[in-house]
Amino acid sequence: MKLLVTGGAGYVGSVNAAHLVEAGHEVVVLDDLSTGHADAVPEGARFVQGELSEAAGPLLAEGFDGVLHFAAKSLVGESVAKPELYWNGNVVATFRLLEAIREHGTPRLVFSSTAACYGEPEEVPIREDAPTRPTNPYGAGKLAIDTMITSYANAHGLAAVSLRYFNVAGAHGRFGERHAVETHLIPIVLQVASGSRESVAMYGDDWPTPDGTCVRDYIHVDDLAEAHQLALQKAEPSTHAIYNLGSGTGYSVQQVVEACRAITGHAIPAAVAPRRAGDPAVLIASAERAADQLGWKPSRSLQDMVGDAWRFTRERAQA
Ligand code: UFG
Repeated sequence: MKLLVTGGAGYVGSVNAAHLVEAGHEVVVLDDLSTGHADAVPEGARFVQGELSEAAGPLLAEGFDGVLHFAAKSLVGESVAKPELYWNGNVVATFRLLEAIREHGTPRLVFSSTAACYGEPEEVPIREDAPTRPTNPYGAGKLAIDTMITSYANAHGLAAVSLRYFNVAGAHGRFGERHAVETHLIPIVLQVASGSRESVAMYGDDWPTPDGTCVRDYIHVDDLAEAHQLALQKAEPSTHAIYNLGSGTGYSVQQVVEACRAITGHAIPAAVAPRRAGDPAVLIASAERAADQLGWKPSRSLQDMVGDAWRFTRERAQA
């Protein structure tokens, strides 16, 4: 298939673009490099540097079989402080992308949605029919986009899939997580192991969880990429399918830090810090719908995620 990958110079986008090239697809990456890296675009993909709102239309006019839409701003805290960046950069820009898709008759869309659509869950594991009550503009914007996509599928025949990621981690070869502002737990802990940070702050040890630290559902970025390929194959016209992407198993912050200690052999000093505003205690996906309907089963463990992210961190430090 000829595929447009927006945000293909970012973490999740570049890993997906690499998988798609490896699978033999013709891949065009569109990225404005606001947070991505030109050298993260995989060999074999054509790279177009440009703004989503302006560049997607002229590109789609060439004729594409589908769009995988990763381009987005993704910092929850920033979305609270500067919501305008999220409504414009995520929601308005995706509306323009949807209009370009409609105008040029692009048949398929796979969208990077998020567990943040659900907000504070009433029960875990979280199923796709759970209430959607996002607690920040990042999640609210992604949910607004999911709502727009449903209406385009219904009205205009689009074959669409939204994948609601839980906590993505790990690396794929030379493609991995390298954010200028790092907020995610595993890369932060590995920065301590590699000596570029002194210690990790664990945000709260008084949560209602077995060891008092927050529990999350971590998913390897390679498993995530495999889900995107299945979504592309299984997308049906006039249908918007929504799937949670998680393993169905939770790990606490303490357990993640311990896994990082075991894999790196580093002591990794960790200090308990105040809770971070907006963090739910426990987020675990129900992985049932993705298993039943996509035939997707994640196969990589937390140790695989930490091991691959650690290899990536050390290789970048040596580069
Ligand atoms: N944490 C720490 N110390 C840190 C960083 C994180 O203790 O220095 C904790 C957080 O409090 C949380 C867990 O580690 O309990 C995971 O935090 P991340 O920031 O890595 O991930 P989040 O669960 O906050 O966020 C993820 C995605 C978001 C998405 C959100 C949905 O990264 O994009 O899930 O809830 F919005």
